[in-house]
Amino acid sequence: MGKAAGVRRILQEPLASRAKMFMRSGILVAGLAGLLLMFAAGRLNAQSECLACHGDQTMQDANGHSIAVDGKTFGESIHGSLQCNDCHTNIKEYPHPEQVAKVECKSCHADEAKGLAGSVHADSAEHPCTSCHGNAHTIFPKADSRSAVYPLNVPKTCGNCHGTEGMAKKHGLASVYPLYVDSIHGFALSNEGLLVAANCQSCHGSHHILSHTNPESPTYKTNIPKTCGSCHAKINDDYEMGIHGKAVAAGNLKAPVCTDCHTAHAILQPTEAAFRMQSTPICGSCHKDQLSTYRDTFHSQLGSLGGYVETARCWDCHGAHQILPASDPHSPINKANLVTTCGKCHAGANLSFVQYQPHANAHDRKLNPALYFVRLFMNVLLIGTLAFFLIHTILWLIRARYNQIKKKSTDGGKDA
Ligand code: HEC
Ligand code: HEC
Ligand code: HEC
Ligand code: HEC
Ligand code: HEC
Ligand code: HEC
Ligand code: HEC
Ligand code: HEC
Ligand code: HEC
Ligand code: HEC
Ligand code: HEC
Repeated sequence: MGKAAGVRRILQEPLASRAKMFMRSGILVAGLAGLLLMFAAGRLNAQSECLACHGDQTMQDANGHSIAVDGKTFGESIHGSLQCNDCHTNIKEYPHPEQVAKVECKSCHADEAKGLAGSVHADSAEHPCTSCHGNAHTIFPKADSRSAVYPLNVPKTCGNCHGTEGMAKKHGLASVYPLYVDSIHGFALSNEGLLVAANCQSCHGSHHILSHTNPESPTYKTNIPKTCGSCHAKINDDYEMGIHGKAVAAGNLKAPVCTDCHTAHAILQPTEAAFRMQSTPICGSCHKDQLSTYRDTFHSQLGSLGGYVETARCWDCHGAHQILPASDPHSPINKANLVTTCGKCHAGANLSFVQYQPHANAHDRKLNPALYFVRLFMNVLLIGTLAFFLIHTILWLIRARYNQIKKKSTDGGKDA
């Protein structure tokens, strides 16, 4: 007891600063070893004994790397009750051994290490535990806001790598962090501090992260509805009852899952105009025929000409998640339900009103004379307007150039 206290006292401030000094002059090891042998041949066990030297915040090794440890923060960290050599297993005295053993987190955290080993981040040199958990001496519980893996900090932690251009170049991976930050989830997390909004870990997991091409991954196409559905449960139920959900469950990978319509990282608020304006091409990327026939209708022309957000887009008539074929009596486009469906926007819609064909083929003049002429008129109007402004601009440019030349010649080329 008395001896340990003595060692501790001896190993305080002055020695630490002397270590620094020696180090810089290059005779550190011999000097310190001598000192230590003089004072204490005993073993170093307690944190305070190690911190007597390493607690000096200016301490550096021979290469100029900091070997300082902030004892106070370490004490507050999740490992604060461990002894330094619970991790630095072969450092038991000074001078330290020639070969300092690498710290093996897995000796205490076998599950996490096992998960990581089989993941996309398996390369332990490139992805040590500290690549996500930060400085090994300042690890906090994941529910502590100082933790690098606290929900609000996860995106930035992953984004340290997945937000850089290097990722794209070296690994062929898109830089997803900037997309995520501007998405509805990223905004909710960073601006509103909404802990339950999806962060990277909610969709990808933490240690056993797999590529989306791996059928075991929560981001593999057929698993995505369940992944999103862990929070958006009601929507997932609707989706599973719809034709798309049933098709995917039956193994038809051509049918859409959540991310085909919403994207994975750049998810927008669906009530926003930006999303509404995108919806037609989204559905249309798979339903090309319906897209082209819809394009010819009043609804679409109105939308594309004036940028009206109010006009009918695919899901206003079909629904978004529980989409059903026309033959299904529950489908909003089943004949029996059309008055209600169209009536959402056309007050007073009746059976004769809904005779109008939302997918009429306007290219066919005989079948749809009215539509054909509406389309013709719209096109003439559009082309006419564009042509007028084009000619106007060209004439204006010619005139400007003419004035310039004329001015030059009357100036007599003074500044030439
Ligand atoms: C007498 C001062 C002193 C004491 C006490 C001391 N160290 Fe060190 N330690 C140093 C110096 C100086 C270095 C720089 C390199 C060297 O000399 O080994 C160092 C280096 C280290 C390194 C870095 C090794 C490397 O090569 O990366 C670790 C880890 C370390 N010490 C841990 C500990 C632990 C754990 C304890 C307590 C069990 C401890 N030290 C006690 C002075 C001390
Ligand atoms: C939870 C395990 C753990 C504990 C406990 C721990 N360390 Fe470390 N320490 C590490 C890891 C990991 C590294 C990074 C180097 C490596 O991977 O071997 C490291 C590095 C160091 C270094 C080298 C400089 C640096 O920061 O890279 C020193 C010095 C050091 N530790 C001292 C201490 C001291 C003193 C204590 C006790 C107060 C302590 N460590 C407790 C895990 C730990
Ligand atoms: C790719 C990033 C990443 C790497 C690498 C990583 N972790 Fe984690 N770790 C996380 C995230 C994110 C969490 C938070 C998980 C959560 O919120 O459920 C976490 C949580 C933990 C937890 C708390 C587990 C729990 O459920 O309470 C431990 C322990 C842990 N990690 C240890 C390790 C160890 C040991 C290694 C190295 C073998 C490691 N981690 C490597 C991202 C990572
Ligand atoms: C000597 C055993 C030991 C070693 C080695 C060790 N840890 Fe721990 N770790 C623990 C203990 C004990 C806890 C506290 C567990 C608890 O309270 O549930 C812990 C907790 C954690 C947690 C926080 C879990 C949470 O609740 O969020 C993380 C993260 C973690 N360790 C990461 C690491 C990393 C990274 C390394 C390597 C640098 C490492 N550990 C090395 C014993 C160890
Ligand atoms: C230290 C840098 C680094 C950190 C931190 C990091 N990653 Fe990675 N990640 C990579 C690299 C590099 C790859 C490519 C691995 C390869 O292909 O060999 C990768 C691959 C991936 C992939 C697989 C991409 C694919 O489809 O092939 C996903 C998903 C991923 N990371 C998610 C995450 C998440 C989520 C986090 C945070 C919890 C995270 N990463 C933290 C560097 C990092
Ligand atoms: C809402 C769920 C969700 C969130 C949140 C999320 N991802 Fe993803 N991520 C996915 C899905 C699903 C895929 C599969 C590919 C796709 O659909 O685009 C994916 C793919 C990836 C890929 C592979 C990209 C490629 O080019 O192959 C990486 C890397 C990645 N995510 C990293 C991250 C990081 C880092 C974060 C946090 C900043 C994050 N993800 C947040 C769901 C998510
Ligand atoms: C960890 C839970 C969680 C997961 C997993 C999750 N989300 Fe979300 N999501 C939320 C929360 C919470 C909000 C509300 C954010 C707000 O209103 O500010 C939200 C908002 C949304 C919104 C905006 C509409 C609205 O109601 O605010 C869409 C669209 C969305 N998520 C789609 C998805 C998709 C697609 C996936 C899967 C790729 C997914 N989410 C995965 C929690 C989650
Ligand atoms: C076929 C395309 C498509 C698929 C597949 C899809 N969505 Fe949507 N989602 C939409 C459209 C369109 C809206 C806008 C609906 C509206 O404004 O009435 C929407 C709206 C939402 C909203 C906002 C709340 C609401 O009901 O308006 C959330 C959250 C959401 N979707 C999540 C999901 C999740 C989770 C999945 C997978 C289980 C999914 N979506 C699958 C197209 C789709
Ligand atoms: C990724 C491609 C894809 C996207 C995006 C997509 N669908 Fe589909 N859709 C399909 C496939 C494939 C089927 C056929 C499923 C089956 O019959 O098993 C289908 C079926 C349908 C049906 C039933 C058709 C029939 O003949 O029974 C309707 C209606 C429908 N989709 C509307 C929409 C709407 C509205 C959107 C946009 C909100 C949309 N789809 C987005 C691929 C897609
Ligand atoms: C104004 C309402 C309305 C709009 C907008 C609309 N549809 Fe339709 N859709 C219908 C009606 C009604 C039917 C059934 C009668 C028919 O085929 O003309 C139908 C039929 C379909 C079918 C075939 C369904 C079956 O069971 O045979 C698909 C697929 C489809 N629409 C996709 C789309 C896509 C994709 C868009 C957007 C580009 C879209 N619809 C826009 C009302 C609409
Ligand atoms: C989301 C709202 C919305 C839905 C649902 C909708 N429409 Fe429309 N529709 C509009 C708007 C907006 C206009 C242009 C303004 C106007 O004339 O009322 C329009 C114009 C029309 C027109 C040409 C102008 C007119 O009033 O005669 C017809 C015909 C029409 N819609 C038929 C339908 C039919 C049939 C359905 C159901 C299958 C339907 N619409 C569903 C919003 C909608």
